[in-house]
Amino acid sequence: MSQILPQYLMLPGPTPLPQAVLQALSGPMINHRGPEFAELFREIEAGLKWVFQTQHRVLMLTGSGTTGMEAALTNLFSPGDKVLALSNGSFGERFGQMAEIYGLEVERLAYEWGEIVSPQALSARLEADTQKQIKAVLVVHNETSAGVLNPLRELSEIISRHGALSIVDAISSLTSTPVQMDEWQLDVVLGASQKGLMVPPGLAFVALSPKAWVAHRSAELPRFSLDFSVTLEYAEQGWTPWTPPISIFHGLRVALAMMREEGLEAIQARHLLLRNTAREGLEQLGLRLMIENPDHASCSVTPVYPPEGLSADLIRSHLHQHYNMVLGGGQRKLTGQIFRIGHLGYQFQPTIWAVLQALEAALSQLQKS
Ligand SMILES: Cc1ncc(COP(=O)(O)O)c(C=O)c1O
Repeated sequence: MSQILPQYLMLPGPTPLPQAVLQALSGPMINHRGPEFAELFREIEAGLKWVFQTQHRVLMLTGSGTTGMEAALTNLFSPGDKVLALSNGSFGERFGQMAEIYGLEVERLAYEWGEIVSPQALSARLEADTQKQIKAVLVVHNETSAGVLNPLRELSEIISRHGALSIVDAISSLTSTPVQMDEWQLDVVLGASQKGLMVPPGLAFVALSPKAWVAHRSAELPRFSLDFSVTLEYAEQGWTPWTPPISIFHGLRVALAMMREEGLEAIQARHLLLRNTAREGLEQLGLRLMIENPDHASCSVTPVYPPEGLSADLIRSHLHQHYNMVLGGGQRKLTGQIFRIGHLGYQFQPTIWAVLQALEAALSQLQKS
């Protein structure tokens, strides 16, 4: 591969960065206990509230998306609490496993990877819980491993009716897909910097409803650096309790300003166009989409099966080697079986066209060899 060929990073995170963000990332180190950082912090928090569509505070933790998931569990529950984990892919399974490791009683409502979580089944399960033993429902909005979008609004209505907390992993859906924290009465919403927010990995975001803060006050699981009370206490001064990734804060300020300029609805419409362009192009190449129903298909990532006789990973390595295009692979039990085109964050239609063209060429080259 030529060293000068620019890279096409087509992953559902980390995602490509705009030039202005790259420049901002090289901003100076500042005192994280000083007024400049507090101003940066407050501006970013206001931007995140807009992204999450919430009036509530959005906590910022150093770490990745998984850090936010772990913090939600340790800050909201006590050993033996019962949670219902909805799962239709790798991240839903991970959330349930993590809850088990922390000593929670985990019941699963599990589906084949790529099927959507059924609102009817959730409703039936929660209606049967007349003793209100289920304290929370763990939901992955956009299941990145299978490219499937769960019907969050409907699921959340059902959870609110029961009274359990909704804990929503919106890590790969924020910005590409509507997430209306307050209007949909979501209790905990999780995000991560390297996904649709157009900055590098390093920050996890957690927004909590007043009901979630009440649950936090009696939660007994041990935690230290991810404690929400301590994080809140510092957030009130515009600070984080521990040294923050200052460079990412510099980048995020610029990324949020770019997002505000484009507008949330326009960002979502762009992602819908990217998804549709990818799906149509892949079908025209004769490939089988993993998510057949477009209403269930993710706006952040499109998984697809390779043609008969070709391995998904061979196609990916060919695209990497010859065109410097990096596509996602199948995760865990889907390893080698699918490949995934990420179209999240700073992505535009011509890039999808380029990937489809390169894919057409790669398939023909590989089928001849
Ligand atoms: C839906 C979802 N949840 C959780 C995670 C885990 O995030 P991280 O890798 O940042 O820890 C990811 C990452 O791809 C994700 O897509």
